[in-house]
Amino acid sequence: MSFPPRFLEELRTRLSVTEVVGRKVKLTRKGREHWGCCPFHNEKTPSFSVSDEKGFYHCFGCGAHGDVIGFVMRAQGLPFPEAVERLAAEAGMDVPKATPEEREQAKREASLYDVMEQACQHFERHLQSPQGREALAYLEGRGLQDETIARFRLGFAPDDYNELKVALLSDAITKNMLVEAGLLIQPEDSGREPYGRFRGRVMFPITDKRGRVVAFGGRIMGAGEPKYLNSPETPLFHKGRQLYALSMAREGARATGRLIAVEGYMDVIALHQAGLDQAVAPLGTALTEAQIEEMWRLAPEPILCFDGDAAGQRAAGRALERALPLLKPGLSLKFATLPEGEDPDTLVAKQGPRGMEDILAQAQSLLERLWITETRGTPADTPERKAALEKHLEEQVRLIQDQSVQFHYRGEIRARLRELFFPPRPQRANAFKGKGKFQPPVIRTTPLPALKSPAHQLEALLLAALINHPDLIDVAAESLGQLSFADAGLDRLRQEALNLLAQTPGLDSETLRHHLEAHGFGEAVASLLRSTMAGFAKASASAEEAKKGMLHALGRLRRPEIVKALQEAERRMGDEASEEAWEALKTLQDELTAIDHVDDDEEL
Ligand code: UTP
Ligand code: MN
Repeated sequence: MSFPPRFLEELRTRLSVTEVVGRKVKLTRKGREHWGCCPFHNEKTPSFSVSDEKGFYHCFGCGAHGDVIGFVMRAQGLPFPEAVERLAAEAGMDVPKATPEEREQAKREASLYDVMEQACQHFERHLQSPQGREALAYLEGRGLQDETIARFRLGFAPDDYNELKVALLSDAITKNMLVEAGLLIQPEDSGREPYGRFRGRVMFPITDKRGRVVAFGGRIMGAGEPKYLNSPETPLFHKGRQLYALSMAREGARATGRLIAVEGYMDVIALHQAGLDQAVAPLGTALTEAQIEEMWRLAPEPILCFDGDAAGQRAAGRALERALPLLKPGLSLKFATLPEGEDPDTLVAKQGPRGMEDILAQAQSLLERLWITETRGTPADTPERKAALEKHLEEQVRLIQDQSVQFHYRGEIRARLRELFFPPRPQRANAFKGKGKFQPPVIRTTPLPALKSPAHQLEALLLAALINHPDLIDVAAESLGQLSFADAGLDRLRQEALNLLAQTPGLDSETLRHHLEAHGFGEAVASLLRSTMAGFAKASASAEEAKKGMLHALGRLRRPEIVKALQEAERRMGDEASEEAWEALKTLQDELTAIDHVDDDEEL
């Protein structure tokens, strides 16, 4: 029995060799390969390597070598057809039998790759010829270096209906093949001659994941419609399943663990040229499920970086909806938003790779994006609106097929809804909850020691400590979020720092400073860190010192507010002497005691 080659190819791409082999052999990842002890001969030190990228295993000890199907044949002693059937079942594919037509088709495809390769070389040559002078100037004018043009194999199709046909026709390449490859258009009236599809355009070859040319996008130079003309669907080109530059982004993605999806060909190229060689793009359509799955093979959380305009944001929204049902433990998308009017190409031209890194560093999680999309616009200020919001979110969550991911989404969303509907009341520790034996009121007159430093100095210390020790966000986020600083400049800096730290957990001090700088706080941060300050706020402080000092300063800042609340609680206690009022009073007294009795080794 034989199988259609396309089916086998699909089977091999759907399966991960490391996954299949990993079930039998304990593998450890080293660089781009996985290593383990060879199951086919006896050994104690691993000389058996497996590469998903190449789709092969190879033993340097005994020379055993093969693809995923070969492995199952050998490891389980199965003949080829049975190994294929077993793997197909695992990959969720039906096993077709190859018909003579399919075998014929496979042969034709093999030669279509040749046709596309020839055409690509032909366009590349034209770009470097006198005819291509304007096109080359166009690309150079858009900031592309020679090396980039060569790497992406950009070319030029002259404004001529017959040129490509005449150049490519040979014994091996027929008109029909050129039509089937999408390079020529056959007029409806089949008596007429086919003519060239791409004329007077800069040519962007589109490759499959193995790097073979399967299609072209042709850009008009200057204004005109359509801006990009793309190859039609052909036996080689399925625009919903492929991604621009996937084969070139693989290595960068492996090296960085990151993949960036942008909208356009030029965006991909500009990012690669700027050193961000992990960028891919869909091919002029909304991101499909197949493309999302394809990206997950390279990185667990691809970052969608779509234009800041309405169309780009709609595209991001559609991608989010597509991704929801597909989410798996560990697999998600992130969403970075460009400033309105910019695309990655223009942004990198103006701000270089660091500008882009900033945008990427602020990418939102899928959950965050979903939350913002659903809560933006209508305020949830009536019972009906609250219920509607809850319902919409639940509908989205239910789209998630993976039960464990769905469970956690539901939990996170409920927590957010609770916070939105019932905002936490200002700080009220629950230390005394549950100890609920009622005791007679303890009325206490409140001492009012003056603050040693003015408020703005404490504010500056807090911010300096936070910037030097961003980890402290874990202890201080809530208090810092509720405080509003008296000094307006410092307050803006407080908000920005909190936002950045909320968006990117685990941000280190240097990166945080860099982001603040990018958001226009460079001067404020510099002068803040230049000023003389208590030891705990300095970069040189230990984590322990910094934490202690910060809590101390936070307490000091909140003191006036607590004193006021305490006076109010005392008054209430006098009025009603309830257990609840007593608890409130006790909690506040304890807070005040804690603030006033920290070891005063730091002069705040
Ligand atoms: P954009 O209009 O954002 O183009 O389309 P761009 O990539 O920024 O191009 P430049 O910078 O003006 O050269 C994004 C993508 O949508 C597809 C292409 O894949 C393009 O890269 N597209 C756009 C088309 O297929 N046809 C079009 O006419 C326009
Ligand atoms: Mn552009």
